[in-house]
This record gives sequence, structure tokens and C-alpha cells, in this order.
Amino acid sequence: MFVNHTSAIAGAELVLLDVVRRWQGATAFLFEDGPLDQAMRRTGLAVVRSRFGRGLSAVKRDASLWRAAPLAGRLAGVAVEIARTARRHDVVYANSQKAFVLAALAGAVARRPLVWHLHDIIDDSHFGSAQRRLQVTLANRFAARVVVPSAPAAAAFTAAGGRTDLVEIVPNGVAVARDPRPPAAIRAALGLPHGPLVGVFSRLAPWKGQHVLLDALAALPGVGAIVVGDALFGEQDYAAALHTQAAALGLAERVRFLGHRADVPLLMQAVDVMVHPSVAPEPFGRTLVEAMLAGTPVIATDAGAAAEILDHGAAGTLVPPADDAALAAAIARTLAAPDGLAAQRARAAARAHTLYGVEAMQEAVAAVIARVAAGASR
Ligand code: UDP
Ligand code: GLC
Repeated sequence: MFVNHTSAIAGAELVLLDVVRRWQGATAFLFEDGPLDQAMRRTGLAVVRSRFGRGLSAVKRDASLWRAAPLAGRLAGVAVEIARTARRHDVVYANSQKAFVLAALAGAVARRPLVWHLHDIIDDSHFGSAQRRLQVTLANRFAARVVVPSAPAAAAFTAAGGRTDLVEIVPNGVAVARDPRPPAAIRAALGLPHGPLVGVFSRLAPWKGQHVLLDALAALPGVGAIVVGDALFGEQDYAAALHTQAAALGLAERVRFLGHRADVPLLMQAVDVMVHPSVAPEPFGRTLVEAMLAGTPVIATDAGAAAEILDHGAAGTLVPPADDAALAAAIARTLAAPDGLAAQRARAAARAHTLYGVEAMQEAVAAVIARVAAGASR
């Protein structure tokens, strides 16, 4: 039984959708209605939707626990539903932090082995101290395994007090189709402008750092950008602030906000450089691998898994986080590179194919589930 709190589809949910493809006939327990609910049904899972979970995904991850206190009745209601549904299953698999916390409480009653697929960096840039303590305490007591997508995510879990012996690193698998047309033809088909073009492809959220790219663009006359993605988890104020910032910097003509798109891989093939400007450590970063597969040069901030994915700078360029001058310089260098960084791009594509395949991820997760179901701790 796979448990997820949100029914919006961000990276963690795209990973889950690939994982469950191996588990036809399994159950998805979701807190709320939404695109993930539909996608799960299409994938062949039975969906159980909570009666009490709607809106719980909007509770901020850095909120202090007392702020969640008024919701205690509903949270308990969801935990009871999870416990009841768990009794019909062999293993409970929590795919998000909120899902894990409630599944852990439910597991205490239902006594089913619990796997936590932890898609977050548990540190003080992402979570309040009470939440960090709660997560590792519950993990150490109730999780049979904690699956993380990268070494930095594993390190943060153990630094927060999580048991090292629980952790299993399973890199995310990413598959995208490549369009055979040259970038210029794709650009024309998509109605994108001529001239040097940068792309950023993340949901809009302060820690994803789109504002740093806008500041960098102010120092790069003649360079255009597409900002792809939308605010998925209540960050509408940040989305509005980005528009204001672009106007204030005189970038309105050069920056296009495209909102959430279903054709990210194609858009990536159309730009000259993909920028990943997160200002807090990234647990993984699917878009990094997508850009590597697209054959597009990548510039990413050196925080979290980016260094691991980009082979410490050999498969992309690393810049310090929240440093718009360094980002502007890296963009200028990339745009000026005479061969378009051909060797680096080839290395990146090969690395993405070798290390971040979907099948390898599905197999690794299936092996964890099988071991846990068989009662083995490793
Ligand atoms: N994505 C998308 N449309 C958008 C923006 C993003 O389909 O407009 C996809 C993107 O291609 C990637 C995922 O959403 O596969 C985001 O995953 P990532 O791990 O990069 O970040 P997250 O949002 O999960 O923190
Ligand atoms: C989370 C992380 C992202 C990661 C995704 C899938 O949403 O923010 O870095 O790629 O989960 O693991």
C-alpha cells in the first residue's frame, strides 16, 4: 500500500508513479483528490482516498507543531484510515514526509512493516527543529527501511539523528524521449524567441531560487529566459513576486513565464542552457537528469545532490547557491563556448543513461519491498 499526502504531481510523485508501475493491483492511499489520484488509477492501482486528508498538504513543512495542533482530530482520522487499510496489505510504503508521519503512527496499531521513501533533505533549511526531531524519532522506531535518492539526502537523515542502518540509497530513474529535430526547429515550433535563451524548469518556490536567475539576467543584456513551472504547494506569493521582480529589473520583454508544462523535455532541447538555481540543498533534482538526457548544458548550484549528479562539475557547471554574479558569469561562459560544450554534454548524457535509469530504480525499490515483506531488515 503506497501512501502519499498530496495529489499534486511534483518530482516525488513522478518517481512514485514509476515505482508503482511494477505493482499492479496494489493500493494507493491518498490524502486528497487531484491529478495523482487520476494518474494512479490509470496506472492500474486501486485508490483509497482519505475522508479527512483534504488540505493537509497545505500545512507548511517548517511550521511549528503547535500550529498543526488544531488539525489533530483530522490527522488522527487519517492515521486511523491508514491503519485500517494497512491491515489488508503486507507492506506500507510512505512516499512523503507527512504520509510517513501518519503511516508510522498507524503502523504502531496495524503492525505492518513500513518503508519511507524520503524525498527530502532533513536539515534546518527545509524543516523546523521539532519536525526534524519528530521525523527521525518515528523513523528510528517504526521504519523498516528509509529509501533516499542521493548521498546528501542520506547524510542529512543521519546528521538529524536517523539510524544509518535504515538507509538505502536508490537514485531516481528518469526517462525522456528525445526529439530528433534540431533546437532551432523545436524553438520555432514552440514559438520561442531567437537569440541566446536560458531555461529554468522547476515548480515556483523560494528555495528553488528562480529569483536568483532573474537577478543574474539583469547583468546579461540580450539574453532571454523561459521560466517553466508553477507554484504547486501554496507559493503563489513567490510566483507573483517573480513577475514583479522581472518588471522592476526591466526584464519583462526578455523573460517568459510559461507556467506548468507537460513538454519539459522538449522545452529543454530548445534552450541553450538549463539553469538549476536552488538556494537550499536539493535532495535529487530530476530536471538535472532530464537536461542531461536532452543534451543541454546544465548550470546548477552546488547544494545537495547536484554535485553528485553532475559528476562534481565534469557533466555540468556548478556555481555557489544564491550568488547571482557567479550564475551570470557561468551563463555568459556557457553561451560563449564555441563548441557548445560538446564533450561535457556527451559525458552528461552517458552518465544519465548509465546511472539514472527507471528500471534500475524500480528493481532496487522492489528488492527493498520484498526484503521488508519477508521480515528481513536488510
Ligand atoms: N515539471 C513538469 N512541468 C513543469 C515543471 C516541472 O512536468 O512545468 C517536472 C519536471 O520535468 C521534473 C519534475 O516536474 O520531472 C520536478 O522534479 P524535481 O525533482 O526536479 O523537483 P521537485 O519539484 O520534485 O522538487
Ligand atoms: C523532491 C525533491 C527533488 C527530487 C524529488 C524526487 O520533490 O525536491 O529534488 O528530485 O523529490 O525524489
